[in-house]
Amino acid sequence: MNIKAQITNLVPYKPGKPSDEVKKEFGLSEIVKLASNENPFGCSPKVNEWFKENGVNHAIYPDGYATNLRDSLAKKYSLSPEQFILGNGSDEIIQIISRAMLENGKNTIMPAPSFPQYKHNAIIEGAEAIEIPLINGAHDLQKMAEAINEQTAIVWVCSPNNPTGKYINKEELISFFDLVPSHVLIVLDEAYHEYAVAEDYYDAISLLESYPNLLVTRTFSKAYGLAGFRVGYGMASPSIIQAIEPVREPFNTNVLGQTAAQIALEDETFLQNCREQNRLGLEQYYQFCEEQGLSYFPSQGNFILIDFNRDGDLLFQELMKKGYIVRSGQALGYPTALRITIGSKDQNEKIISVLKEILKN
Ligand SMILES: Cc1ncc(COP(=O)(O)O)c(C=O)c1O
Repeated sequence: MNIKAQITNLVPYKPGKPSDEVKKEFGLSEIVKLASNENPFGCSPKVNEWFKENGVNHAIYPDGYATNLRDSLAKKYSLSPEQFILGNGSDEIIQIISRAMLENGKNTIMPAPSFPQYKHNAIIEGAEAIEIPLINGAHDLQKMAEAINEQTAIVWVCSPNNPTGKYINKEELISFFDLVPSHVLIVLDEAYHEYAVAEDYYDAISLLESYPNLLVTRTFSKAYGLAGFRVGYGMASPSIIQAIEPVREPFNTNVLGQTAAQIALEDETFLQNCREQNRLGLEQYYQFCEEQGLSYFPSQGNFILIDFNRDGDLLFQELMKKGYIVRSGQALGYPTALRITIGSKDQNEKIISVLKEILKN
């Protein structure tokens, strides 16, 4: 079988154990899953209301161009519809960009640890993945710029960064963009953009005009609470979008996802409320960390990386036995840490009290 040599050692994405399986294995009646940075408050009630009252014709293909959702996004951001590419989650946007631009002989620069799909896709395409270590949880933008050469096709920037939650402020971001030559595409992954509240957080949309080599990705999976529908998008100059569009599958976003995303986009109140609850939830964890003397990264996302100075996998197992599913830092480049998604106030209180008990031993 002629499988690409570079993928023979590549490990497929390993999803966490399904909640039902964990329940059965440990005889639990309730599971709190705070592992995948999903929205603990679900999605806008308007989405559920719409689906209760309306049906969609499942027998026909969706609008492959996602015209209505595209137009709504264009209106929201005051961009033109040609500046968008829609994807089956922003995962797919990352895949499309990689497929369009990377190959053997090219390289791509990324922070590490960060979202693993940048490297994963680079390997599949046979390109060299150049990983630039974070400094104290933040991008080393200077080193990232220095690593660029003639063969560099893409530089990935993740802000707020998964798994650390650190963001890049406007000044740092612009200084970095100014260092990136025009032949290199800058992908700014803003999966957690809607959660960011820092005062010096930038408005990426306003930078698109000044940086024609910039592509910004966002998603409906996080603050909009639509991870199950799989809708993400990229925004860039029309010429970049036009160049990568041929890689996109004809019907990559489905009719349910397009509809849900369009309704969710209009509910700013839901989003604001989630942002505020998330901010308050983060405070709960900060207080817990201060009390326990644990180090953590202040986060602009809906998750927090806490260093427990213990084996992350063992701690993860202990929490799972008690019905709490989080992410061990082992696979995230922080072996003694856990990444915990910010839950509801009640969920946060519960897991914090369980953690306090565990830390006594
Ligand atoms: C930084 C980052 N980018 C992209 C994604 C992909 O999200 P989705 O494919 O659901 O849009 C995630 C998901 O966890 C993420 O953390």
